[in-house]
Amino acid sequence: MNAYSKQDQLIKRISTGINGLDGIIEGGFPNKSITLVSGPPGSGKSIFSFQFLYEGIIKNEKGLFLTLDKKVEGLLIQSKKLGFNFKSAIEDKLVKFRFLNINKKLIYESMINEILSGEFKRIVLDSITPLSEMPIYGNYNENNKLDISAFNSEDYPPNTNLPIRRLHLQYIINALESTESTSVVTSELPMGSSLFSRDGISEFLADGVIILSFDPTMNRRKMSVMKMRNTKHTLKPHDIEIKEGGIFFI
Ligand SMILES: Nc1ncnc2c1ncn2[C@@H]1O[C@H](COP(=O)(O)OP(=O)(O)O)[C@@H](O)[C@H]1O
Ligand SMILES: [Mg+2]
Repeated sequence: MNAYSKQDQLIKRISTGINGLDGIIEGGFPNKSITLVSGPPGSGKSIFSFQFLYEGIIKNEKGLFLTLDKKVEGLLIQSKKLGFNFKSAIEDKLVKFRFLNINKKLIYESMINEILSGEFKRIVLDSITPLSEMPIYGNYNENNKLDISAFNSEDYPPNTNLPIRRLHLQYIINALESTESTSVVTSELPMGSSLFSRDGISEFLADGVIILSFDPTMNRRKMSVMKMRNTKHTLKPHDIEIKEGGIFFI
């Protein structure tokens, strides 16, 4: 046994909940990793996220679903239609859904407090895209550090001198990294894009990148693993389908 495979055996794997995916990434996401799931609208990013948290419920692992796009009620209807009934798990406090309004003050504090609560084994942020397009408000403080308060739009005028997207994303990814949680962060891609994320940055900050795509003329859906820390994987697109129960490898 070489040093590499010895190290591999030490990495705990977190099951993705998706039939077929675990098998091509050595059993699941590396424990405490952050995986970016990117794709155009309708490619299955939210369904991927539901499945990841549902697997946690089955394993008695607490999950957090943070969304900037949709109100919780709509998400629960969408997920129930697919066969994910989160209601009793919510009542049992095994999973928490939280909608964060991007236009509201204190969005960062709310988000970071949830992430840093230490309660959750699995965290989903669906999607990071609105955040990457939000302006940064305020300035660096005297220690040359960006204060949390600097993000509160009511206190500061927008600062157009800061590298906006990078700061937002780095801030969130750093928070996720500092926890014991394993995370999935989704990112919207325009149809036919060859990018890994719309912001062009998240893929460098994340430990893993999974691309979801589809070919409407062929009525085919695909999933490709483009990056996964400490994992041997192919780059080849895998055929998938979406049906009741979520995403399945064909
Ligand atoms: N029960 C179902 N059977 C088959 N396909 C479904 C079902 N429910 C949803 N879908 C497909 O999944 C898509 C939505 O996936 P979703 O995860 O919400 O996409 P995204 O978050 O990437 O925008 C729908 O556009 C539809 O094509
Ligand atoms: Mg979605």
